[in-house]
Amino acid sequence: MIDSTKFWAVVPAAGVGKRMQADRPKQYLPLANQTVIEHTLSRLLQADVFTAVVVAISVEDPYWPTLAISKHTNILTAPGGKERADSVLSGLRFIRDQAADDDWVLVHDAARPCLTTEDINLLINTLVDDAVGGILALSSHDTLKNVQGTSIHGTLDRSHIWRALTPQMFRYGMLKSALEAAEGNPAITDEASALELQGYQPKIVEGRPDNIKITRPEDLPLALFYMEQQ
Ligand code: CTP
Ligand code: MG
Repeated sequence: MIDSTKFWAVVPAAGVGKRMQADRPKQYLPLANQTVIEHTLSRLLQADVFTAVVVAISVEDPYWPTLAISKHTNILTAPGGKERADSVLSGLRFIRDQAADDDWVLVHDAARPCLTTEDINLLINTLVDDAVGGILALSSHDTLKNVQGTSIHGTLDRSHIWRALTPQMFRYGMLKSALEAAEGNPAITDEASALELQGYQPKIVEGRPDNIKITRPEDLPLALFYMEQQ
């Protein structure tokens, strides 16, 4: 039997990058002769598994149309939303006529340009037979404190604490319903949290530490360093 389950990538790229304090959204800042988002999308295309990569872009974004990659045949442009979760949902709705409920969707931040094919394949190969899906994550090396104001009120059991990365991989139908059910809920900061709210227990797959999210100015030289090492 031929398995017709497709893989889609959805890339939220409609943020303004407030913490980056730059003159443009961080996904358009230069990084080794390309913009951040060009690296991110090239890496998803290179994996050669996605039927299409759906990019959620702010409707007022003047930068996106100037990039050649915005015209790539495997890249679709959907309108972005108010919060990250709204952008992801918009991307999912954009392919509603082509995607089947059982298709897999990998949601990946535009601001994570150091993603490797190795991590994409690890996530897919680990979860492809899973009932729910899951996310790339990293364990925490530092001791973690519960802090109120500036006072420590306890130490967390680190063995149960993981940092959520992207891609996050879920079935199209399940993910879309979970995000629709959670619309407007500010606690939904990633896809897994929407599924958790529905009572599911997504899996974690240990990812590479170089898959950083560009958030603050110091992250750009760090991303460049990781790229040179890869
Ligand atoms: N994002 C989005 N739509 C939004 C907000 C964020 O598509 N309304 C995207 C960002 O473009 C980014 C990813 O979600 O690729 C992760 O979000 P974050 O790192 O928080 O980016 P920004 O929201 O742009 O940054 P900041 O929070 O510092 O403003
Ligand atoms: Mg943000």
